[in-house]
Amino acid sequence: MIDWKDKREFWIMGARIADPSAERMRVGSVCVQRGAITEIVWQKSVDTDLPVLEAERFVLAPGFVDVHAHLREPGYEEKETIETGTAAAAAGGYTAVLCMANTNPAIDDPSVVEYLARRASLVGNCRLYIAGALTKGLGGEIVNEYGLLKHAGVSALSDDGRWVTNSQTMRTALEYAGQHGLPVISHCEDSFLAQSALMNEGYHSTRLGLRGEPAAAEEIAVSRDIMLAALTGAHLHVAHVSTAGSVDLIRRAKKRGVRVTAEATPHHLTLDDSLLESYDTNLKVQPPLRGRKDIDALRAGLLDGTIDCVATDHAPHTEIDKDVEFDEAPPGMIGLETAFAQLHTRLVKTGVVDLLDLVRFLTVRPAEALELPGGCIKKEAPADLVLIDPEEEWTFDRALIRSRSKNTPLVGAAFTGRVQGIFLEGKWRSAIMG
Ligand code: DOR
Ligand code: ZN
Repeated sequence: MIDWKDKREFWIMGARIADPSAERMRVGSVCVQRGAITEIVWQKSVDTDLPVLEAERFVLAPGFVDVHAHLREPGYEEKETIETGTAAAAAGGYTAVLCMANTNPAIDDPSVVEYLARRASLVGNCRLYIAGALTKGLGGEIVNEYGLLKHAGVSALSDDGRWVTNSQTMRTALEYAGQHGLPVISHCEDSFLAQSALMNEGYHSTRLGLRGEPAAAEEIAVSRDIMLAALTGAHLHVAHVSTAGSVDLIRRAKKRGVRVTAEATPHHLTLDDSLLESYDTNLKVQPPLRGRKDIDALRAGLLDGTIDCVATDHAPHTEIDKDVEFDEAPPGMIGLETAFAQLHTRLVKTGVVDLLDLVRFLTVRPAEALELPGGCIKKEAPADLVLIDPEEEWTFDRALIRSRSKNTPLVGAAFTGRVQGIFLEGKWRSAIMG
């Protein structure tokens, strides 16, 4: 644990700096003054009178940016709040998160947007970006007043949790969002094919006797939305891509010049549908965990830029919600606190991607995809940073969880690589309790 009392002006010295704009990581030192980065030098140390944080063991990266988290406030505070959700984000190395609109009431009114922004700045754990609902009450029929929502501060629009089945509504939504310069984040899952499905359709769903959802449910939705993005010229962002076919559709759409970006979650990148043999309801997510070839396609898509970024789809549910029969359990798992460690352990340590690439997928790529600030290390920028020990071996104990909900299949998992804490505008927040 790093013992660092908060200071306004200091140097972080000798860290390996994971600057996503660079080809490789280099040892350097960074000066932070009044919340901003004021100096970056490519030396292990510098002469200074300012306090020094010795960071030779660590990697210093831009704070992570999550473009997909369910923070549940207002309305489902028993699952998560802005306070607990942003504390979980900070513990996971995130300095900014975008919260989804499927709250109660939905984020479809400027008053809700203003309330959330105020809560987040009062709590001060990390920056909060807000997705407004695409349709009134997430009902899928009536588009919201995007101008008013934008004015209130939303950064994107989404009915995430549901697909907008009505193509006319989606066309209007994209047109209207495009006029306001807002990206539309689409939860691509054909509601009819996905209805009452519990997992991926395939060998394991047959063995387990659980109703399966075919890859086509997602791919039909991705196809239609790409076509509507092409028709309207609006920016479509495909949430939680889970199938090889979707990766292919997005790759081809990008080649044709359609304005489409996409994300993949840590769980879809690392966990497969064979794990459902445990009947652990924490593995029930929407879209469902898929097979090996889908996972490989997602990884290849991230590496070639088809999938822009990693986003958690942090979806808290209480123990009471989840401790029920498999078909009764709501879909979703929490992910903010394990995203880095899980991906570092499963993708970096196994040689699938290198650490600097993983940092890119968690920082500059999500920020660019959704046109949000942050995600880089540069002079004059706010000092939103994360310190990582890439060698620390640790176990994810339940007692460590900051989120109000504990619905993760990763309790007890052994990880290599641990977020030590973040600097948010230069202010240190340890990720490690004690
Ligand atoms: O697994 C999921 N849970 N997928 C979603 O799209 C919604 C989310 C939730 O809100 O719980
Ligand atoms: Zn979601």
